[in-house]
Amino acid sequence: MTHWYDKAVIYQIYPKSFQDSNGDGIGDLNGIRQRIPYLKELGINAVWLNPVFVSPQVDNGYDVSNYFAVDPHMGTMADMDNLIQDLHQAGIKVIMDFVLNHTSDQHPWFQDAIKNPNSIYRDYYIFAGKDNKRPNNWGSFFGGSVWEPDPAGTGQSYFHLFDKRMPDLNWKNPEVRHAMLEIAEYWLEKGIDGLRLDAFIHIAKADLRQNYPTADNSQKPVIAEGFFANLPQVQEWMRPFCEEIKKDYPDTLLLGEAASASVNLAVDYTSKRNHLMDSVITFRYFTEDDSKVDKSFSAQYQPKELDFTAFKQNQAIWQQTLAGISQPTLYWNNHDMARLATRVAHNQTQARSLAMLMYLQRGIPVIYYGEELGLKNLEFDNIDDFKDLTVQDFVKSAKAAGKSQAQAFKMVSQTHKLPARNPMPWTTEKNYGFSTHTPWLTGKKLDHADVADEMLDSQSMFNFYKKMLELKKTDLFEEGKYYLLATDKNSYVYQRDYQDQSALVAVNLSEKEIELSLPDAYHQADLAAGEYEIKENKLKLSPYAGVVLEK
Ligand code: GLC
Ligand code: CA
Repeated sequence: MTHWYDKAVIYQIYPKSFQDSNGDGIGDLNGIRQRIPYLKELGINAVWLNPVFVSPQVDNGYDVSNYFAVDPHMGTMADMDNLIQDLHQAGIKVIMDFVLNHTSDQHPWFQDAIKNPNSIYRDYYIFAGKDNKRPNNWGSFFGGSVWEPDPAGTGQSYFHLFDKRMPDLNWKNPEVRHAMLEIAEYWLEKGIDGLRLDAFIHIAKADLRQNYPTADNSQKPVIAEGFFANLPQVQEWMRPFCEEIKKDYPDTLLLGEAASASVNLAVDYTSKRNHLMDSVITFRYFTEDDSKVDKSFSAQYQPKELDFTAFKQNQAIWQQTLAGISQPTLYWNNHDMARLATRVAHNQTQARSLAMLMYLQRGIPVIYYGEELGLKNLEFDNIDDFKDLTVQDFVKSAKAAGKSQAQAFKMVSQTHKLPARNPMPWTTEKNYGFSTHTPWLTGKKLDHADVADEMLDSQSMFNFYKKMLELKKTDLFEEGKYYLLATDKNSYVYQRDYQDQSALVAVNLSEKEIELSLPDAYHQADLAAGEYEIKENKLKLSPYAGVVLEK
């Protein structure tokens, strides 16, 4: 059976940051609706919307207090219905972010659980321990312990992998599994086409009585991934959920966020015989080079170069291993990491050649809004802008090592997820045509990107992405076989073959000109970034350049 998502080109929209329609500085659903012609023009065929459910916005919508309604900042349910309808009319599928590992502490289930110790909702969450002692030393991704004292004063604690205002659901409880399926089906009934399953790899936890082993066995919180990521019960509990959805809505894309999944786990999660997901998003692609890290202070927010050799190995392994199993997702950035043009690319040419490298491989492109303009992270200048405990710790440690406050902020701006959630720059006007009001997120803009200018300039990043996506949508790049050519660390070269067609994608990863021997007589460039020259079977590429050649 073929599915729409076999040929998906996904555009990730952070709704708060895309377009404000009512002048409150916060992007919303009607704003997205206004921009459908832009999405059409770019050439994508699906959007993934970060969460739009009712939320106290502790984590920008990932803390849900009502799954059956749209957050008032985003609009109304009627706006959502209209958005789905208009996107469909434009031939664009809709993928919603589905937060299933936790809820907001303001969700009525949690509120009842803490108000009434005999509540049936008590067992919807994870309460453990006694005498106000933390059950173990596991650490939260957002800093500190995963345990927070039960506000009801029972002496127990409740479990939160993320912010303390985001308690984890107890997936051991069949009622929780049933409730989450009901929510998913409610939205599918509305006509959405896919779900991005947020943090699903964390729904199962090891025995809570165990400390995560550390050298000094202290109670200091440690990230205990091995105890709360990718446990076998994740598959056991997700399977009926995925099977039910596919039974009732067979053309639904199930896209799992599997940050720490290895390629072998990706096989387990996406292999057809396992009845789970269609594709997963791993964070394992981007191995960083730690050799230049300053050891005199915390490494967490120090900018690091991508280790291109490791990156190339990772890409080749994922491409090979998933061939015939499922489609890998192809992406360079998302709302949880710094932007491509800040984190990896040294200049515009490299941003382009890295985009062609990534997206012309086999798999589903997921383009993060603004990436197609060459947008960079904003630069913040106030610690409160980050609203993050881990940033406070980092700045403290950098200052103790003699760095100035400004130097520390610069580093955090280059590496943190929040400055990558910039308001979309539509024009050069005040507030970028994003809003008539000051945007919810402000900072210094470090690029010259804006939609209006780039659409008019045939040489712009936008028009480069557009051409690249046209190429991506051909059978050769959708369905062709991938294989990696043997080259040294300065280049990444692969071939795609489909029936009697074949193409070569060759990218110079270095800051020097390089020369490559071509395996065949290639000419005719379909797409290029930077300068190239072909003479006989030799290809010269200028620094960071990339080219797509056909026979
Ligand atoms: C996912 C989201 C991230 C969020 C977290 C908790 O990792 O991508 O933004 O903070 O889940 O929901
Ligand atoms: Ca608004």
